[in-house]
This record gives sequence, C-alpha cells and structure tokens, in this order.
Amino acid sequence: MKAKLFKPILMVSVFIFLFTFHAVAGEVEVLHWWTSGGEARSVAVLKDLLEKEGHAWKDFAVAGGGGDTAMTVLRSRAVSGNPPTAAQVKGPQIQQWGDEGVLTNLDDVARANNWDTLLPKVVADVMKYKGHYVAVPVNVHRINWMWVNPDVFRKSGAKIPTTWEEFDAAAQKIQKAGFIPVAFGGQAWQEATVFESIVVGVGGPEFYQKTLVEADPKFLNSPTMVECFKVLRNIKKYTDKNAPGRDWNLATAMVIQGKAAMQFMGDWAKGEFTAAGKTPGVDYVAMPVPNTSESFLFNVDSFIMFDVKDKGAKQAQKAMARLILEPKFQEVFNVNKGSIPCRLGMSRKAFDDIALRCMNDFIASADMNALLPSMAHEMAVFPAIRGAMLDTVTSFYNSDMSAEKGAKNLASAVKGAM
Ligand code: GAL
Repeated sequence: MKAKLFKPILMVSVFIFLFTFHAVAGEVEVLHWWTSGGEARSVAVLKDLLEKEGHAWKDFAVAGGGGDTAMTVLRSRAVSGNPPTAAQVKGPQIQQWGDEGVLTNLDDVARANNWDTLLPKVVADVMKYKGHYVAVPVNVHRINWMWVNPDVFRKSGAKIPTTWEEFDAAAQKIQKAGFIPVAFGGQAWQEATVFESIVVGVGGPEFYQKTLVEADPKFLNSPTMVECFKVLRNIKKYTDKNAPGRDWNLATAMVIQGKAAMQFMGDWAKGEFTAAGKTPGVDYVAMPVPNTSESFLFNVDSFIMFDVKDKGAKQAQKAMARLILEPKFQEVFNVNKGSIPCRLGMSRKAFDDIALRCMNDFIASADMNALLPSMAHEMAVFPAIRGAMLDTVTSFYNSDMSAEKGAKNLASAVKGAM
C-alpha cells in the first residue's frame, strides 16, 4: 500500500522539480570585486540562493577594492563582444552602458515584484535607463565612517575624536603610546575615500555638492579646498611606512588586531569585523569621520545585466534580479556586508546598532540636504572626471605638493576632463 502511494508522489515531485528548476535552469557569469573576507561571505549568499533555484553561478571575481580593475576587465570583455551575464556596476556608469545598447530590460521582473514601490525614488532612478530598469540595487553603503579600536584609545589615554582638532590631539597621544594612529591603505581610491569625507566635513554639504558632484572649478580651487588638502596632509603624519599600496582590508585588520587605533573607510569595513567574530560596541566602535556626523556620503552597489541569447541564462538573470530585492537576501547579505538594505519596509530586527544608526542617519541627512553621492565610489561624476580627481588627490598625497597647488591642480585637471 505504502509503495503504491509512494510512486505517484515521487513522480509528481520529479515533475515539479523538472518543471520548476530543470526546464528553466541556466548559468549566470557574475563579475564583481568582492574578494575580501567579509565581501566573499556576502556574495556567497546570492550564489547559494541562485543555486537553490537550480541555476549555476560562474564566479568572475576581479580583486581590487573600489572596483577600478574590475571595470577595466569588464570593458575589455564587452569590447570583444563577450560580456558576462551580470556585472557589478554603479551610478552614472549605468547610463553609459545603457548608451551602448548592450543591457537587458528588467521591467518585467520589476513590475512583478513592485520595485517602484519597494525602492526609494533616488535609488530607482539610478537603476533606470530612459525610464526602464537595467540594473538592480543591492545595498546602501555609507562612506564617512571611522572604525575605532577602543582598547588602543584607552591604552593611549586618548579620546575618540569628533572634530579634526580633536583628531590631532588623540593621534599624538596614540603615537606616543607606541601604536599606529591611522590604519591607511595608500591606493588612489582609498585616498579619495578619505579625502571626500574631509571635503564634506570641512566644507559642509553644499561645498561638497559644488565641488565633488558639480565639479565647479570656482569651488574646486578655493580657500576651503586648500583647507581640505591640509587636513589630508596632516593625516599622513599618523600613518605607518608600509601604507603605500596596502589593501583596505589589511588596514582594517590592523585595527582589528590592535596595531592601529582607527581607519577612515566605508562600512564594508564592518564586514571584516563581523567575519573576524568581533562585537560592535565592545571590540570596535564606529563613529562618523570627524566633522561629518550630520552628513551621509552614500554608495549603492548594483548589478547591470547584459543582453544574452541563451534562454537558460536569461532565466537565471531574471531570478538573480528578483532574489536580490527579496527580504531574505537583503537581510543576510547586508548584515554580512556592513551595509543597509536598499529596499523599504524591511524588518530591522537582524541589524546591530551601527546599522540602525546608519538607517536613521540616512533618513535624517536626506531631510537636511546632507545625503550626498560618493565621488570616490562612482556615484557622483562620470568616470573621466572621477579619474581626474583621483589622480590629483593621489599625486598630492604622495608628494610634498602644497595644499594651494593641490586645489589649483584639482580645478585644472577637472576642467581638462570635461
Ligand atoms: C566599493 C563597493 C563596496 C566595497 C568596496 C571595497 O566601491 O561599493 O561594496 O566592496 O568598494 O571593495
């Protein structure tokens, strides 16, 4: 009797399996630059969810924080007519890929899953090309964070700084006590990450908007910008001699291990603390970069999807787009990554105090016109202008150029790139 019943059940299950998974299974090749400990844990969540639906994930990871190398590799793959299925691309660059006519339209997934109501308009607009969804957002990162090892501060008798004046006093004490005050990674994008936080703190949100978003030469070469370069120069005194070329996650490790007191970095750094099993508020503390408690420099990671011929790949692509905005992925991924969900209406239960502060500050800063796109992380200006800005900041940082010359060069490099 049992065996008789079992057979039809088995057949139905096999049919359901074949129908749901097999018939539509495909492969997605996904280009991304999430290779650090915390990042790899985060992207694995998406791979698992897709595989659970029967699709295959072909990993196309290109190491290099900030994604500059990944973007170069993507260009060459696309130029040779062989782009991956999906690629981590953000901000204004989405429009550039749209102009090339190589992206797939995701409107059907968006409509079926109510993206227009789930996403804040500022986020949705970036994902659309000529009114159609061509990209799917993953998260919201905040750039202007300072990651602190409270034990190092305690041992040095220093107070965690909230202004650049306080920073100087604290850094001197930390240095005297034999620790490295600032864990620093000397790569152009990391220098720019620190620099943009200085600009919004020293100049204020309006100044940031005029300079690093609107690229107005009058404001780029100004006494306030000179001041910003001086603050950047001052930080260098408190870094170690191995900083040049150091990856961002190795700098985070210096804070985790108690070799350094603080790091200025976006909240993907939290992913490293989490992966190392550290407890926020106990083993580490996150504070806004000095002078920036009211501002929020944002960075939204997203995936564009290329037009592919293969039916299975198309299905896998749509499944990936859908899964990314489902609550399950949004929660697990963002907890691991250190970011906050990009969709509205999520439960806050799984998130720690740092993430909760981030969520609250995101809303508060929007009300105060202090919610600003990150230049260093591709959200504010087109790549040519960003490139000019990064080049100027890195050549200033790695030479003895005066702050006045830094500001002058910034304005002329940006003019040249326009
Ligand atoms: C950013 C990206 C983050 C993080 C970081 C370091 O540009 O948005 O998700 O991965 O680079 O790699």
